[in-house]
Amino acid sequence: MAPANGGSTQLWLPLLFISLGVMLTATQKSVVTLNPPWIRIFTGEKVTLICNGNNLQENSTKWFHNGIISTITTSHWDIVSATIQDSGKYICQNQGFSKSKPVYLEVTRDWLLLQTSADMVLYNKSFDIRCHGWNNWTLRKVIYYKDDLAFKYTYETPKISIRNAKLNDSGTYYCSGFLRRLNYTSEKLRITVIKVYKTKYRWLQLIVPFLVAILFAVDTVLLFSTQKQFKLLMKIRKTGKCNKLETLLT
Ligand SMILES: *[C@@H]1O[C@H](CO)[C@@H](O)[C@H](O)[C@H]1NC(C)=O
Ligand SMILES: *[C@@H]1O[C@H](CO)[C@@H](O)[C@H](O)[C@H]1NC(C)=O
Repeated sequence: MAPANGGSTQLWLPLLFISLGVMLTATQKSVVTLNPPWIRIFTGEKVTLICNGNNLQENSTKWFHNGIISTITTSHWDIVSATIQDSGKYICQNQGFSKSKPVYLEVTRDWLLLQTSADMVLYNKSFDIRCHGWNNWTLRKVIYYKDDLAFKYTYETPKISIRNAKLNDSGTYYCSGFLRRLNYTSEKLRITVIKVYKTKYRWLQLIVPFLVAILFAVDTVLLFSTQKQFKLLMKIRKTGKCNKLETLLT
């Protein structure tokens, strides 16, 4: 019968939207962080990749390096002595979480390296840069440049933190400094600050309950109108007045 069929699809549709809403709110992204934080390091150096902290189940992390799944299943991945082959894209996924955004690690050889904690920085977030000498040799008279203009001089090499990054912190950075009495200059590195409308998912999270409410309202109206039609039909049948309407409704 028509009212019974209508009722089941009317239930099914809001349920779909509810489960969609639950999925959107429940699936959290995994996050890869580095310790130390530098995404550019020299060969032979150590770095630990961490997937969302460590209070998680043992052996429940998946790691992907350049798209290939790794045998590592712990939430920490220690690279003890980096090689050029360790360069590339890293993605992790903890059980119950969705895949992380990729982190790109660059392993290189040079005299000087401008290290950064990120080369894509979200607006108002922070990043660190550091001029780093080969083999951890002491670096002196360090000058930091942005877009070919010197902006910071330090005798030794503490890192520089850029807090609340603005769009004009985007630029090409490099550094120069003395290693064993010789003045070297690092390669240039492009750092980009981006403004992302992160509201995409929040907006969906708000819109889904709205849709559900609207659907329920529409359902109720439909249910009442079909009931009315049904009653009308019965009345018409009883009175036998209008055969045309009857054929139209069935
Ligand atoms: C996790 O993996 C390590 C190394 O493969 C293994 O020694 C350990 O027993 C595993 N732990 C669990 C809880 O499976
Ligand atoms: C080191 O070299 C750079 C690039 O040529 C130069 O700009 C800088 O002034 C030099 N540093 C010193 C302390 O002379």
